[in-house]
Amino acid sequence: MIMDNTVNIAIFASGGGSNARKIMEHFQASQIGKVALIVCNKPEAGVLDIAREFDIPSILITRKQFYESRDVLETLEKYNIGFIVLAGFLWLIPDYLVQAYPNKIVNIHPALLPKYGGKGMYGMNVHKAVKANGESQSGISIHFVNEHYDEGNLIFQATCALKPEDDAATIAKKVLEVEHRHYARVIETIIQTMQKEERNDL
Ligand code: GAR
Repeated sequence: MIMDNTVNIAIFASGGGSNARKIMEHFQASQIGKVALIVCNKPEAGVLDIAREFDIPSILITRKQFYESRDVLETLEKYNIGFIVLAGFLWLIPDYLVQAYPNKIVNIHPALLPKYGGKGMYGMNVHKAVKANGESQSGISIHFVNEHYDEGNLIFQATCALKPEDDAATIAKKVLEVEHRHYARVIETIIQTMQKEERNDL
């Protein structure tokens, strides 16, 4: 009998989707996980074009649907999704999803949490704040998602050095490079650990 333990991954994204692209590329060649669905909340988001390019189904959700119905959960179940990756997704994850996917939702934040996290701290806002404080380094934080912005347990961090002449745009570029280098690989390791723990529970 052939056992297929490949976990179906859903990527939630709101923007250009450069991290989503890296993750799709990575898991094309993986036995551990497969990107099976893209969930997006912005009709003009670049990630929707990337999904088409990779022939991965996508859904566009409204705020009302996300917070006042269980449509998204039903779709995740339909696609047999076992793991959720946030890659530049800017809405807070509702309680019902956190409870349905305990320690199975991860986020990447473009700074070294617990600094520069919380509501309103996303994208360029983060890098502008890092610049305003004259930090000599920034980096990335990958963490589990709970009901609060950027507060779930940390899984992985990596840093990049900043120079005094860096502005918010060059900081953003440096941080994005670090994200691209690590996120897919760290996701794969988390899924492998999750599978081992589930096997030990049997
Ligand atoms: C990434 O830098 C990600 O860390 C950030 O949005 C960007 C998305 O880029 N996420 C947040 O700020 C969440 N608080 P991408 O669409 O090119 O992957």
